[in-house]
Amino acid sequence: PACGVPRPHESARAQVAGSATYVDDIPEVKGTLHAAPILSTVAHGRLLAVDASAALAMAGVRGVVLADDIPGDPVLATFVHDEPVFARETVNHVGQVIGIVVADSVMQARRAARQVQVQIEPLPAVLSPREAHAAQSYVLPPVTVRRGEPEAALARSAHRLSGQLEVGGQEHFYLEGQVAYALPLEQDQWYIHSSTQHPGEVQHWVAHALGLENNAVTVECRRMGGGFGGKETQAGHMAVWAALAARKFGRPVKLRLDRDDDFLITGKRHPFAYDWEVGFDDAGLVTALKLTMLANCGFSADLSGPVADRAVFHVDNAYFLSDVEIASYRCKTNVQSHTAFRGFGGPQGVIAIEAILGDIARHLGLDPFDVRMRNLYGIEERNVTHYRMKVEDNILHPLLAKLEQTSQYRQRRAAIAAWNANSPVIKRGIAVTPVKFGISFTATFFNQAGALVHVFTDGSVQVNHGGTEMGQGLHTKIMQLVADELGVPFERVRVTPTETGKVPNASATAASSGTDLNGRAAQFAARNIRDNLAAFVCGLDGCGAGAVTFRGGEVITPSTTRSFDEVVKAAYANRIQLWSDGFYRTPKIHYDKTTLTGRPFYYFAYGAACSEVAIDTLTGESRVLAIDILHDVGTSINPAIDIGQIEGGFIQGVGWLTTEQLVWNGEGLLTTHAPSTYKIPATGDVPEHFRIELWPEPNPEDNVFRSKAVGEPPFMLAISVWEALREAASAALAGGAVRMDAPATPENVLRAVTGSLPGG
Ligand code: MTE
Ligand code: MOS
Repeated sequence: PACGVPRPHESARAQVAGSATYVDDIPEVKGTLHAAPILSTVAHGRLLAVDASAALAMAGVRGVVLADDIPGDPVLATFVHDEPVFARETVNHVGQVIGIVVADSVMQARRAARQVQVQIEPLPAVLSPREAHAAQSYVLPPVTVRRGEPEAALARSAHRLSGQLEVGGQEHFYLEGQVAYALPLEQDQWYIHSSTQHPGEVQHWVAHALGLENNAVTVECRRMGGGFGGKETQAGHMAVWAALAARKFGRPVKLRLDRDDDFLITGKRHPFAYDWEVGFDDAGLVTALKLTMLANCGFSADLSGPVADRAVFHVDNAYFLSDVEIASYRCKTNVQSHTAFRGFGGPQGVIAIEAILGDIARHLGLDPFDVRMRNLYGIEERNVTHYRMKVEDNILHPLLAKLEQTSQYRQRRAAIAAWNANSPVIKRGIAVTPVKFGISFTATFFNQAGALVHVFTDGSVQVNHGGTEMGQGLHTKIMQLVADELGVPFERVRVTPTETGKVPNASATAASSGTDLNGRAAQFAARNIRDNLAAFVCGLDGCGAGAVTFRGGEVITPSTTRSFDEVVKAAYANRIQLWSDGFYRTPKIHYDKTTLTGRPFYYFAYGAACSEVAIDTLTGESRVLAIDILHDVGTSINPAIDIGQIEGGFIQGVGWLTTEQLVWNGEGLLTTHAPSTYKIPATGDVPEHFRIELWPEPNPEDNVFRSKAVGEPPFMLAISVWEALREAASAALAGGAVRMDAPATPENVLRAVTGSLPGG
């Protein structure tokens, strides 16, 4: 069979050979023009004038496109409808796009864009979420989730701790930057090549800005060179800008952002600030929690509502919280509009409770592993989340017990303590943290998908579905699923570019649910064709449809074995339909948006990691020494791809929590806007000891192939590295509380070990 075995990514060979096509590789149509953005240089101000005369005089420059050139709505068609296509009247962050310059070549456009003079009268800017909260500056109203009586429970708790935490954002750093290529077709129709996780939304945004109906716009995406959430909404901007230019000049227009501009324009993972107060007993069992989370959303809502909601949903991580109140504020600041990023707010929720549990353990002098085990969700009781969903598929106890053994956590912790006692400068730390991640879009209606499967008369198979390929292996898994459904070898199946004209109204490929949704839709489509073929051969052989098997490229009835190709050819000659659509919607899910209660998730994905680190207490430098991961992907459709996702997600999480620091200066300029100053993990940061094991049980829910989503959950396991760093810092402080903000840059590690704890 094609499923359940490791297989290379369907594009792997083309990608390493350099022959895989990205938007900027598509051969350009004659007459193509290029665009570059004009950026605000002020964080907040009145836009008084735009003088493009110098730019217009430059060689190759065709003109500029500004807010006045928009035939449709000058506000982007986002859910909240609060973000202008181009800044007009006011600017709201450094890097906000005011317009674009269009020229014959990309370099001409970029040089000219810098010569456009923008006159801005500065206004006071809000740059931090705490400032925004104090000024009640929000992009969306606050949300509070409450259960039990946290105040009373705090008052009667044996112990109490309180604290603050700051957790930084993260640049997506997709290798392929944001890009779109807009082609005018006849009669005011438009074809857009977009590097996007959500072609349907790009279609909608472009139509809206052009003042057209959706049926005038078609959007295609063959693949992205990484998205990581950064192309869920924010790819739409490039497409809209390119389409507006294409309309103005009646020419194809390509807009590919320079990397520095990409950093300055597009939103990132939301930075968070927290205030918390926790009550607990002598054994470290949490008895009450009050938590305030301030999400730095930037200047517009974008996806901040659902991101902040998911943070609220994941504050429990793996733990039962009896009496709890979580207040979530969606702070409006004068920076880029922060957006989806792997985990979609989940990591910002999980890190809060893991930080608190680590502090409780160190306060009581207990092993943090024991404190975490003690607080886990129960099976028969203590099994309902703070948003009132029963946790039915809990495997945390056996999973953590197994990792405790295989990683030799206890022995290593003892060895590290002994080693630290004799090492004055270098200190080591080890930590295990789990993850329980809810799978489904929290907006229930997004949990639907469609697919089209075509069988051609030679027996070869083409699949199209609403999901997009960003490197995560979605297309490969779907080819495997369709191959098995039709009983043909994997090699007979191809996936074609995602296109709004083939499968309409598709949801974003996000929330890790690409395979769950589109895989099932494709499986259903293939099943329809198989049923048609089965009925046809039954007619020939006089058997029941249930007696027909499709396997190994053959169609087998009790009396006859025929090749799949032969059956297809004969079926075609007998006018049997050889193609079909398929549609899937996730069962069981529902939730009330106003109270954030219900069953937002079809199931949970689980995992745990054990990480060991070392810090240099004189320089603050740190290193990850060893990683052991045990992760639950249900029955794996493709173990090679799943392990790749676990590796990639984990290391991306390590980057978030250690080296990737976004620095905005006092004027609101993001000063870390290139790889020279913004450091993602490199191969040298991956320890030699990096072991990954898959949990061997199937998904108890009837998910496709009994698999589980894998794209985001492993990201949160990197919190074990951050916790291990805090353990090492605690060793340097001879035990006790550690305040260490994320990312754990050398400066923050040094601040932690010198014991100068800002804010207490
Ligand atoms: N893996 C690669 N190689 N590139 C990516 O951009 N994005 C991640 C994850 N894994 C990403 C990735 C994110 S944010 C999500 S939501 C999922 O893939 C989306 O794909 P899936 O739903 O098919 O897992
Ligand atoms: Mo992923 S953050 O849901 O695109």
